Amino acid sequence: MNDRVRVELRPLGRSIEVERGTDLRDVLYTHGVEFPCGGRGRCKRCRVQLLEGTLPISEEERAILSDREREEGWRIACRCRVDGPIALQVEQFRAPILVDHRPFTFQPRPGHGVAVDLGTTTLVAQLLDLTTGRVLAAQTALNPQGAFGSDIMSRIQFALSEAGRKQMATMVRDTVEAMVSRALGAAGLEGTPLEMLVLVGNTAMHHLFCGLDVAPLAAVPFESENLGLQEFQANEIGWKLAGNPQIRFLPCLGGFVGSDVLAGALATRMHESDELTALVDLGTNGEIVVGDAQRLLCTSTAAGPAFEAGGIEMGMQATTGAIDGVTISDGILKCRVLGGRGARGICGSGLVDAVAASLDLGWIESSGRLADGRKILPLDGQVNLTQGDVRQLQLAKAAIAAGLKILLERLGAQDGPPPQVNLAGAFGNYVNRDSARRIGLLDYPDDQVEPVGNTALLGAKLALFAPKQETDELSFLSQRIEHVALATDPSFMDVFVDEMRFPD
Ligand code: FES
Repeated sequence: MNDRVRVELRPLGRSIEVERGTDLRDVLYTHGVEFPCGGRGRCKRCRVQLLEGTLPISEEERAILSDREREEGWRIACRCRVDGPIALQVEQFRAPILVDHRPFTFQPRPGHGVAVDLGTTTLVAQLLDLTTGRVLAAQTALNPQGAFGSDIMSRIQFALSEAGRKQMATMVRDTVEAMVSRALGAAGLEGTPLEMLVLVGNTAMHHLFCGLDVAPLAAVPFESENLGLQEFQANEIGWKLAGNPQIRFLPCLGGFVGSDVLAGALATRMHESDELTALVDLGTNGEIVVGDAQRLLCTSTAAGPAFEAGGIEMGMQATTGAIDGVTISDGILKCRVLGGRGARGICGSGLVDAVAASLDLGWIESSGRLADGRKILPLDGQVNLTQGDVRQLQLAKAAIAAGLKILLERLGAQDGPPPQVNLAGAFGNYVNRDSARRIGLLDYPDDQVEPVGNTALLGAKLALFAPKQETDELSFLSQRIEHVALATDPSFMDVFVDEMRFPD
């Protein structure tokens, strides 16, 4: 009997063969399906829709899915095993990945190099000609560690054992090596020796890629002794790249402030600015750097997953079927749906818009309570917001606003002119600035807030041009940025609670 069966993924147009009895999770994470709770069956966000064939429903799924969801073919991918040929709808999980195409100044060097932004969710690699500074090819991929949870803590927990740590390191290293090979192939440079790879990422990604002990990142005070620059040759981690290039994973700034933030500071040149500047990356851990040429402070603040629509009842990534923008038209909410089809959920930028518009309509009070006894806020079709969703967004925006406020206070700049705010990362790129101001997330004039894209990748590219033994700008910058632990700041809780309110 042939024990291999075909799994078709629509509308990606991919078809794969797997052993009968294979866990869907093992198959799907490399095709973009997220497993936010690491396959514990808690979050329901690994839902896929069965279009053809049969996929037996487990007892756990019966408890998690409604009758209607089961009838419509929804399954919880982390609870399913393939039992026969099937076709699945997985389009809803494709997310855009932010690359960087901005020009930059550099000192030419001979050879080729690769810059990598190693994100928790997505990986981006760019191959550069170091003589001309031209990007010759770019590759993106989903971080394969996502199969063990979309949040950093799930992955740290998994990597606490020796075997888990090895597995986490191997899976991400394999993916990066394959991306580098694909980039060389795409540029017609197969087998060309590389000079160097520079990687940046948050502290957990830094430790997981380098195979460092993550136990210090798993418990208070979340401080590791291994935050520094990590350097090794490609063959030391089993890579077979021509030229055996040096690999440099740039240093982190703190337990939750990684080299992606250092690279962002380098890219935006805030350390040279006479004006007060802030760099804000809005993610599950909001990372903030504030200062000028005299002094720079950084911190991270636990914003929770609301900006990525995590923890939101009908939250989803910014892809087909997601409400990504909401405006008011004739006194009602008007939703823009990605892909132009029916709304199936709401992504982070849609959530900020929806709450901002509902505040304007008086449907949400400044305390965050739904006004006039409402239980939900209907948006489009079946999609609505709940009281819990609004609370999640309040927690996220309060964490960022409070972090920024405390850093400004520490700099003695709370009463001075507002800083120029550079918004890094994907969410910062897509969020509507008026809506962000309306909910009190970034209460600054429009011209003071600017999306700056993937500054982590730009900073990694700049570091590629630094001489190997360089100890000047980068090391100097990493030492100059002082890390502030908000948890130990006596005023943080008060400021945070204040910032929970929405502006009137
Ligand atoms: S229910 Fe969370 S990953 Fe499957």
